[in-house]
Amino acid sequence: MGIDCKTEFECLLSAADIQKRIKELAAEIDRDYGSDRIMAVGILNGAVLFMADLIRELTVPVEYDFVGFKSYVGSESNGDIEVTKRIKGDIAGKRILIVEDIIDTGRTLCESNLISKLIDKGAVDVKVCCLLDKPSRRTHTVNIHYTGFTIDDQFVVGYGLDYDGLYRNLPYIGIFDPELHK
Ligand code: IMP
Ligand code: MG
Repeated sequence: MGIDCKTEFECLLSAADIQKRIKELAAEIDRDYGSDRIMAVGILNGAVLFMADLIRELTVPVEYDFVGFKSYVGSESNGDIEVTKRIKGDIAGKRILIVEDIIDTGRTLCESNLISKLIDKGAVDVKVCCLLDKPSRRTHTVNIHYTGFTIDDQFVVGYGLDYDGLYRNLPYIGIFDPELHK
């Protein structure tokens, strides 16, 4: 547990842990893309904090946009994936880096067909960068190119991750216990 974890949630990853790992990820991405321009595409709303910190560590040329999907209520998956925000502008010829807070079941990325839609629109290359990977819950195959941390099957909040819209603003990632938050 990091020293900067100061709230009611048991800390899984401190703000310092997260920032250190983001620097490592950015260095890896910089190496892989060389001088190529990246279009980072963050998935709303969870990826906002990760996206903001990650792109500020990159030295390759970056442009960014967001896409929005809505698929969760509380801690459970429910029904269809609703598109709430699309990419504006041309993506033909671009190298896309999808930035996601967490890959859990993999359903959002798979069933939204985001990757194949981007390729259909002319992206030359689509890679996935997630801060957290929960492989034990995977029901849909997702090819992840950059992973911040692999975590156990626990519901977590903070640093973009929510429970019912709350706790996204925490600078650290904590373990959410529904019994304690009724
Ligand atoms: P997937 O479609 O199951 O991979 O889930 C992806 C989305 O579910 C993420 O972008 C999150 O919004 C949400 N999610 C999955 N696990 C958690 C969690 O532990 N805490 C908060 N949100 C989560
Ligand atoms: Mg969410």
